[in-house]
Amino acid sequence: MEKVKIGIVGLGRLGKRHAFNLANVVPKANLRAVCSLNEAELQWAKNELEIPQLFLSFEDMLAHADIDAVWIASSSAFHASQAKAALEHGFHVFVEKPMGLTLKECAEIEHAVQNHNDQVFLVGFVRRFDPSYRYAKELVATGAIGTPFLVRSQTCDLDEYAEFQLEFVKTGGGIFLDMNVHDIDLARWFIGSEIKEIYAKGASYVHPEFAKLGDADNTVCLATFENGAMAILSASRTAFHGHDTHTEIVGSKGILKIGMTPRRNRVEVFDSMGVHSDCIRDFYERFEEAFIAEAREFVESILEGRKPEIIARDGTAATRIAMAMTESFKKGKVVYM
Ligand SMILES: NC(=O)c1ccc[n+]([C@@H]2O[C@H](COP(=O)([O-])OP(=O)(O)OC[C@H]3O[C@@H](n4cnc5c(N)ncnc54)[C@H](O)[C@@H]3O)[C@@H](O)[C@H]2O)c1
Repeated sequence: MEKVKIGIVGLGRLGKRHAFNLANVVPKANLRAVCSLNEAELQWAKNELEIPQLFLSFEDMLAHADIDAVWIASSSAFHASQAKAALEHGFHVFVEKPMGLTLKECAEIEHAVQNHNDQVFLVGFVRRFDPSYRYAKELVATGAIGTPFLVRSQTCDLDEYAEFQLEFVKTGGGIFLDMNVHDIDLARWFIGSEIKEIYAKGASYVHPEFAKLGDADNTVCLATFENGAMAILSASRTAFHGHDTHTEIVGSKGILKIGMTPRRNRVEVFDSMGVHSDCIRDFYERFEEAFIAEAREFVESILEGRKPEIIARDGTAATRIAMAMTESFKKGKVVYM
């Protein structure tokens, strides 16, 4: 096999970006099929990407597309059932985060992955493919900051996307499963231990509509790990300056800070308004390089017959912790894992 023939499901805000990368940017990917519930999105893929096989039904794509792998970028509520079905049809599977919205869904995926051990399976924890986060991981591994004992990590989206999020939250699992799931994965990755205790708080300070849906627009969570380390993970849907994802890792001999100021570039403007810079606007602008590296890793793992570093258990762990955060936030008490 010289190229991996891929069928993607989901052509929304993120799926279109993935489809573009798989069709045009990732050298060994061959995007052959697309599936969406939305006819206009299918026509976009046909016209803009020249994709030959278009499907309104996921089951039809699994049954009829000429593909080796399935790329899942549909709404979060469908990730688990689609991943399981694609594995059972014999396809390699990439699935966007969160891997599942319940532990039952995650267990079913883990079971399917075990039963199809010769197929590649990758969960889209994209930040692990970002060059700065990778470099930080190398520094931690070489002991540059001693023993890491605290991770502070936040995911903040531009306030103007709150309206989209109000719809998304109805099926996306809420702010912890949708946004903090990335910070949870990073904290586990950097600390190398499992979270055992969670206390999460949050409220709707700017958009009361989130509270009506049982969600929040700003949250913070204190977590402790089995090895004694700590994490402070926060999320916001109301950043007015731009997309502001950053992480700090504190160790016994030093601190690593990743992306603390979300500048678009290195230009600073000095004028009558003072000194200012443009800000990154959205997650895709921040992680564009990582999204491409993630796709390359999936395709190259298949071609080289090896397994990616991220495994299904990482997807389950992130869902388990995000669910515990949600429970703590809703019940106002500490949750023990
Ligand atoms: N890794 C990241 O940083 C990141 C960022 C944004 C979104 N995401 C994830 O990507 C996924 C998609 O997010 P989005 O913002 O593009 O959503 P979206 O609502 O814009 O698009 C969803 C797409 O899925 C399709 N779809 C939904 N259910 C389907 C089904 N049963 N069968 C076939 N197609 C179906 C819709 O037609 C649409 O094309 C979500 O799970 C989200 O959590 C990840």
